[in-house]
Amino acid sequence: MTILECKNLTKEYYSGENVVKAVDNANLTFEQGEFTAITGPSGSGKSTLLHLLSSLENPTSGEVIYNGESLKKYNDNQLSILRRRRFGFVFQAYNLVQELTGMENILLPVMLDKKKPDEGYIEKLVDVLGIADRLSHLPSAMSGGQQQRIAIARALANKPAILFADEPTGNLDGKSGREVLSLLKYVSAEFGITLILVTHDLGVAEQADRVLTMRDGVCKN
Ligand SMILES: Nc1ncnc2c1ncn2[C@@H]1O[C@H](COP(=O)(O)OP(=O)(O)OP(=O)(O)O)[C@@H](O)[C@H]1O
Ligand SMILES: [Mg+2]
Repeated sequence: MTILECKNLTKEYYSGENVVKAVDNANLTFEQGEFTAITGPSGSGKSTLLHLLSSLENPTSGEVIYNGESLKKYNDNQLSILRRRRFGFVFQAYNLVQELTGMENILLPVMLDKKKPDEGYIEKLVDVLGIADRLSHLPSAMSGGQQQRIAIARALANKPAILFADEPTGNLDGKSGREVLSLLKYVSAEFGITLILVTHDLGVAEQADRVLTMRDGVCKN
């Protein structure tokens, strides 16, 4: 089943008199549960494409279709609910709240949504990610890899349909990066989550079900 599509998706940025087509007429489909890697050189439009697909940014033209519905029909409030409930985000910077413990960080999105956490699910997530002994610690007492695993648990706490990840291993050394990636891949498969991941690293991209390559805003299968 197709969970996400984009049609003629384009984003232009203006700098003075120049127009940069950061994303140039992308037509893509993403199947539920599939792991897609988006790769390409710096400045080729990977992050912009991810932001458009996840409604963090509005396209200049074209549309994104989630679960058969065009996001053009959604107002800002509906988009933020969609992002909070159906999408998870992992970035290169872990963005944990420094004053909160590991567990408090993980539960933050569930609390913000005024929902009761599914304790069995959170426990399983924590177990799979190997962070059980970090839950009462503050981020400052964690390694980069541990912080990113907490950030992944936080992104998955609401059981999203799609996890968007932008260079999630970019700040980690080779070994922790590989560990985090294989965990991301494993938890997504385990919980049937669609994974759309941006990476410079061809070794990372190799592990995906399919790889999209961007060059000057053009995305190729
Ligand atoms: N907010 C913005 N305003 C103007 N130009 C932008 C903006 N965001 C991105 N761009 C331009 O759009 C193009 C694509 O940028 P983008 O950040 O999507 O690339 P990227 O592939 O993610 O690069 P990197 O691998 O370095 O993260 C670049 O030319 C960039 O300078
Ligand atoms: Mg980028």
